[in-house]
Amino acid sequence: MTASNIHSNIIFSQQIETELENIISSFASGKVFLLTEETPAKLCLPLIQSLIDKFQIRTIKIKGGETHKSIRSVEQVWEVLSKFGADRKSLLINIGGGMLTDLGGFAASTFKRGMAFVNIPTTLLAQVDASLGGKTGINFNGLKNEIGVFNEPDAVIINTNFLKTIDYENFLSGYAEMLKHGLIKSPEHWAELMVYDLNHIDYESLQEIIAHSVAVKEWHVENDLTEKNIRKALNFGHTVGHAFESYALHEGKPILHGFAVVYGMIAELFLSAKKCGFNAELLQSVSAWLLNKYGKFDITPSDYGALYELMTHDKKNEGTRINFTLISKIGQVEINQDCSKELIFEALDYYRQLSV
Ligand code: GLY
Repeated sequence: MTASNIHSNIIFSQQIETELENIISSFASGKVFLLTEETPAKLCLPLIQSLIDKFQIRTIKIKGGETHKSIRSVEQVWEVLSKFGADRKSLLINIGGGMLTDLGGFAASTFKRGMAFVNIPTTLLAQVDASLGGKTGINFNGLKNEIGVFNEPDAVIINTNFLKTIDYENFLSGYAEMLKHGLIKSPEHWAELMVYDLNHIDYESLQEIIAHSVAVKEWHVENDLTEKNIRKALNFGHTVGHAFESYALHEGKPILHGFAVVYGMIAELFLSAKKCGFNAELLQSVSAWLLNKYGKFDITPSDYGALYELMTHDKKNEGTRINFTLISKIGQVEINQDCSKELIFEALDYYRQLSV
């Protein structure tokens, strides 16, 4: 998997202003809007102020965080679009992390049945995952991403300079999705991620590694946009991971998405060893590496029932069966795997007994 696999509408550039001007020019017949939130606004708006003036871009700011990934925030966006005459030739530029690009993509995709949108992701998680691939949406009724549509952005601009401003925890959270990409599709990508020095982040080599990760994501999206088949590979670690994420939140000890995915990947590697012949020694060494970097969210057997219950509510399930994506070796995925409750509890035991 090389960077040359990347879709031409994904642009790697430190020259945000130039790239954005080219994109806006191709939408010259419509009005331009920009959606952002407080932190990315401070980071990005100064870089494109001359474009904001030149194209009279109207800026919409919403509050960040999962609680604001709501229909109310979408209404706020629709209200501005409507009031200031947006139409199907208009463009919405989304600048921010995954919450913002998911929500902005949804608002644009549904306004007058769809206007163009461009994502400028500012976190590692958004650059390698959330801003790509057209999963747009919002939370509803306490459920994450319950409402949404598949609709790919017209362009994505990835500027790795933005990553210099995110904290180490958020960096690791995005890195977890890159690790997942290596495990499901590319032993070469996995190997480069293993040796990358996380204690001294080199931003130049990072851009190339990010490009490899983006290529893995894009390969799955291009082959199966609406997740009927091979895109399910991208859910590796997420069935157990989402349960950890929701449970931790409910317990008042929230964990970042990527950390939950790492804990989920450890449990699902155990299931992979049991069901798909994933090498037992590799299971031990990969688990140890992951725990060393990501620490652990401690659980006890009394938590298993609630975690299992959360897994049964995963929207990727079909009927009553919990649908797992597992791997038989690094780079080889096995989708649509069924696991018994007993085996899932064994996987939680395996995770629980590991020491950091
Ligand atoms: N984040 C998983 C996917 O885009 O399918």
